[in-house]
Formats: sequence, C-alpha cells, structure tokens
Amino acid sequence: MKLRTLVCSTLMGSLALVAGWGQSRPAAAAPATPIPHLQKHGTATQLVIDGKPFLALAGELHNNSATSLEYMKPLWAKIAASRLNTVLTGVSWAQIEPVEGKFDFSVLDGVIQGARAEHLRLVLLWFGTWKNGLSSYPPNWVKKDSDRFPRAQLFGDATPWPVFGGPRFQVNGNLSMELMSPMGEATRDADAKAFAAMMKHIKAVDGQAHTVIGIQVENETGIQGDTRDRSPAAIRAFDGPVPKELMDYLQAHKSTLIPALSTVWEATGFKTSGTWTEVFGKGRPADEIFMAWEFSRYIGKVVDAGKAEYPIPMITNCPQEGFGRAPAPLKGGGQSGGAMADAFDVWRAGAPKIDLFGADIYSNDYAGFCARYVQGGNPLFIAETGGGSVDIKAKALYAFGRHDAMAFSPFGIDTQVGNPSDPFGYDLISQIAPLILKHQGDGTMTAILPGPTDGPTKIQLGNYTLEVAGARPRGAPPAQAQGAGRGQGQAQPAQGQGQGRGQAQAQPAQPQAPASVAMFIQTGPDEYYAIGRGITVYFYPNQNPSGKEEAGLGAVEEGSFVNGKWVAGRLLAGDDTEQGQYLDLRNLGILRFTLYRYH
Ligand code: DGJ
Repeated sequence: MKLRTLVCSTLMGSLALVAGWGQSRPAAAAPATPIPHLQKHGTATQLVIDGKPFLALAGELHNNSATSLEYMKPLWAKIAASRLNTVLTGVSWAQIEPVEGKFDFSVLDGVIQGARAEHLRLVLLWFGTWKNGLSSYPPNWVKKDSDRFPRAQLFGDATPWPVFGGPRFQVNGNLSMELMSPMGEATRDADAKAFAAMMKHIKAVDGQAHTVIGIQVENETGIQGDTRDRSPAAIRAFDGPVPKELMDYLQAHKSTLIPALSTVWEATGFKTSGTWTEVFGKGRPADEIFMAWEFSRYIGKVVDAGKAEYPIPMITNCPQEGFGRAPAPLKGGGQSGGAMADAFDVWRAGAPKIDLFGADIYSNDYAGFCARYVQGGNPLFIAETGGGSVDIKAKALYAFGRHDAMAFSPFGIDTQVGNPSDPFGYDLISQIAPLILKHQGDGTMTAILPGPTDGPTKIQLGNYTLEVAGARPRGAPPAQAQGAGRGQGQAQPAQGQGQGRGQAQAQPAQPQAPASVAMFIQTGPDEYYAIGRGITVYFYPNQNPSGKEEAGLGAVEEGSFVNGKWVAGRLLAGDDTEQGQYLDLRNLGILRFTLYRYH
C-alpha cells in the first residue's frame, strides 16, 4: 500500500530513546505541535502525537458507554489505573444530530474532558451509517425516511434468518432490513455532513491538546445476510461495467495485489473491462468485490469531508472473513464488502484517504490473522480483540513485537479495567514502549507465540539464531539428551499457567490460560532483551564456517525499566538457566542477556 503518511521532516532526526518516550500525555497548556499523524520509521509506520512516536496501549469500551457521562464518570480513573493510554469509544450519529442540521456535541465534549483529565488519548469510532453490517446508529430522521435514505435489499424468500430471528419486511419480493444501501447518495451526503461537523468541532475544542488522536470511520462495515445489495440501484450498478477508476487501480498495482484478489481476477484472465461477473467471475467473490467498491466509495467521501476539516489519522475496521466466506443469501453469519484483508486493494482504490485498515481479531488463529492484516504494507492496528485461545497479554506482546503494531485494543474494557489492576499487561509494555518504538521497522525486534504442540522455532536475529520452545519442567533433560542432538529436540508443551520458578508442571494449555509468548529485541552485537513468559531459548552463532563455534550465555539479568532506564535485579545462572544451557523465561517479565562465542 502506498501509505499516505504525513512526513514531518523537522521531527525525523529527533528520534531518540529518552525517558517516557512514546508515552506523551495531553498537556494542560496548548502546545504548538503538529496534529496527530502517521510517520514512517524504517519499514514500520508510527503514530506521532505531539511530535513523539506513540504506542497506543488501548482498550475499546462497549458500544454505548460514552453516550452517558454519568456512566463514564467512575470508569476514567479505573482505565488510567489499568495503565491504558488510549481509549477507543463510539460516537453515535443519532446522539450528535438528533434533528437534521442541529448538532449537540455536549456529551462528546464531556467525554473528551473526562479522558483528558486522566491523561488518556481517544480514538473515536464514528458510528454513522453502518455498524456491524447493519444501520442502528443513524438518527430517526434518517431511519424513518426510506425514500430519501434507501435501504439495502436482500435476496428474499421466506426462510427465517437464524442470526436475527427472521426477515423484517418484504419489499417486492426482496427483504429490507435496518441496513442502509451504499447506493444512497443522500445518505452518504448526510453522513459526510454530520461527520465533517464533528471533525470541525473536534478541531475547535481539541486542536491544541490532541486528546483525540484518530478516528475509526464507521464500524465493521459490510452487508449482513446476503452477498450483495439487491436494491434496484445496486442491481443496475452490478449489471453495468466495473468502473474505470477501479480497473485502472488494479492494473497499475497488478504485481502487488493481495493474493486473494489477484487469484479471483486471474481466473478471468485479468480482464480489463466488462461487467462485474465478466471481470471477477460468477459467485460470491464478485459480489463481495462489488460491495467493497460501493462501501469504500461511500466511506471515502465521508472521510474526505472529515479530513477537509481536521485531517488526523482515519482508519476503518472489518471483521476477519475473507472472500467466499460472506453469507449465502439469508444464511447470515458474515459480512460482505467490508475492509477485510482480501479486499484491501479495492478499498485503497475506493477510499484513498483512509490511512489504514484496523483488525478485529476474535479467532483462535490470532497469529494468522495478524499476518493477513499486514498484507500489502497495512500497518497493524488491532482495533478489537478478545476470546480465542491466546490470552490478551500474549496477544499484545506478539502484535507489538512481531508486526510493529501501532495500537492494540481489547474489546469491552468497561468491566475489565481495575480488576485486576493490570488486566492487559500494559504495566510491562509501557516500561518497554520506548525500546519498542526505537526498534520498530529496523529488523532488530521480533516475537513468537509458540503453540502448545509446536516444535522449537529458530529465529535469526543479529549475530545469533535463537531457538525458541515452550517452557519445560525444571530439571527436564535438554533437547540433546533426547537423542536428537542439540537444537533438533522436540519442544515440550507450553505451560498452561505461569508458575513460580521450580514449581512448574507440564500441563496441556487451556483456552485463555496464559499462553507462551516471547518478544526479542537486539540492542547490541551480543546483547538482547527477552520479554514474555513460558519459553526456553537455545542459541547458535551465525556465520560459523568451521562448525566448531558454540554460543554461550554471558550475563542474564532479571529487571525492569524505570523511566526508560534498565534497572537490573538478580543475576541469573545455575538452576535458573539450567546450568547455563538455555534462557528460561517462566513468568511474565523481562530478561536482559548477553551471548558470547566459544569453541
Ligand atoms: C464487533 C463489533 O465491531 C463491536 O462493536 C461489538 O459489537 C463486538 N463485535 C461485540 O462482540
């Protein structure tokens, strides 16, 4: 993706590891700093707030929490105490424009003030025309006027739709849901007008303090219950030619297209003109590409209107499905046309001012979906996550360490914050945030999530290869004693629980039990930090032509970062490194270690 980053050259040279770097807080007095923007840092893309790179240790509130200041009152302090620095929260179109053209930003202002008082940043989720493939957030004056603001129609029969308990209305044989059609130009213009008014207001009340650092435009856009809109206007468009703008974009980016899209297009011989089915074949992918185009064009106009007022970073999010997974007519279950990874190219063509596509990942295959969302250079912004077999703390470390994520945000934090006090592991991550930001995009940082049944994985980092496996019971023979030779042994199952040193038992991992995870940061030719839990690590020297060189553990220190400086605790050897044979990171924490060569 050609990243639309605002490069601020005066800031480029000032990247340094300093105390508190990346965790800047809204200032009380108005600072004369550039507005929140994105900036390249090596191969990574970073959020820059008040002139400094920022790692968003975020959480998303339940959908309607921030529609009530009373509801929010007790939450702000708990959120800050749980070490979050950013909150994602919805803004309801119905609440800010209850009467057409009459805006009420009083609740939004209170939310901004509540966050600012606790030194928190906000990413606002614009719940405009669509949320979760339906339209429950437009004001009643929009919902009631379906002549002016047309509904999408679904391919209808009388089959009950299991997800929502049955069809709502029957219109000319098609079902009409509380779902706006992306073909509705008046709806688009009304949404864009409201969004622009909100952005103008945010600029007026927050253009200096920068409590609001980004906007997610709409939420999990797409169409539920069918593969495409069957309203008359949508059918006309679908039966017509694929617009030239999309064809031109696909041809210009043919060599770098997301493979799923390229495969669909290849099946028709990369046809460069024709109807949607001529260019993309008959079936669900063609329907989904068509819907992605219509949704992206619509939302692109909304984004344009908002950025014309206040151009801070704007994202859109999407659930995780890929082509061919959208619902068959009336079967429910998925969404068609959203900014899912398979459709990134279509969205880039239709909505070029969207800065990135946020990832909502609830799957057990967390690592797999992270990899899908960074395709084509999309910066990783985990807009929502929860559930699945990997716990939140492991997910966060993995996203930041492996994929240079700029933001990580578990969903539904209202009941999680303050109980326990560090529910997402942000206490640890905020310690290392400066180090993470310094090393993003330069090839000296990575992370791994060894699954309970995975064998050891080799990672080349700097002058050494790290062989990472799940934790093994204290005193278990090293891999070489199992007859396979050092480095080729089988990994032990990951520990289900982070146990105290010397007490670990091999147990099968339970869903949501703390998962094994490790982030590695190379800080010198022979110096590394390992951050994580439930792992053991062997080492090999790279460039070893004689084959006689071995790598040994030099110094291993427990410790923590205080104000950006490493403060060492115990110096580990003996039982804590299996007599110097491997690094053993059992409980969630940080080890600094050095390696050396010998023969
Ligand atoms: C995904 C949506 O984007 C959120 O707004 C919320 O509805 C969650 N699902 C609920 O699990």
